[in-house]
Amino acid sequence: MDAFDCIATKLDVREFAAARQVPQEIKDKVLEAARLTGTGLNTQHWRFVVVQSRSGLATLARDSTSGAWVSGADFAVIVLTNPKYRFHLIDAGRVVQDMQLAAWNFGVASCVFTGVEEAGLRADFGIPSDLNISIIVGFGYPARQTKGRKKRIELKNLVYFEKYGSSTP
Ligand SMILES: Cc1cc2nc3c(=O)[nH]c(=O)nc-3n(C[C@H](O)[C@H](O)[C@H](O)COP(=O)(O)O)c2cc1C
Repeated sequence: MDAFDCIATKLDVREFAAARQVPQEIKDKVLEAARLTGTGLNTQHWRFVVVQSRSGLATLARDSTSGAWVSGADFAVIVLTNPKYRFHLIDAGRVVQDMQLAAWNFGVASCVFTGVEEAGLRADFGIPSDLNISIIVGFGYPARQTKGRKKRIELKNLVYFEKYGSSTP
């Protein structure tokens, strides 16, 4: 898929086709996309916990406050970043988007969540205290066709030229 089309058509999907498993090659590509993403100062401070067992995904859902839908995902990735770097959350945002786009290139949909019961999640997944639980992404084939429901503000209301507030190029 063309990179622009991939961005333009990707939606955050929370309902997945239970009967259709994501092949290992696609999971590998998603993780490789993560590995290849740039970090501030090339620090590569992030670590990724892949959760793919039904019981692990159910635990992840229980530990979440805004991502219960992850129980229906095929697999999920917990993105951990090191808060000693002031840019660590920018890195988390970039890597999660790259993983989502890499997946969508193969028709695998995804959604992210950030609301977690931190203590429980750390205990359940053995996450060390020096790493921040930055964002979690769940993947799977979409339960239904997702086309055409992207709702966004128009570009003219978002973009200024040369100076904030100037709408003419
Ligand atoms: C930083 C960030 C945090 C998000 N947190 C959650 C969340 O906790 N739970 C959830 O279900 N979706 C979450 N989302 C998904 C957004 O709701 C979604 O990206 C937005 O509604 C646009 O969806 P669309 O691309 O399908 O139009 C989050 C997205 C971002 C970028």
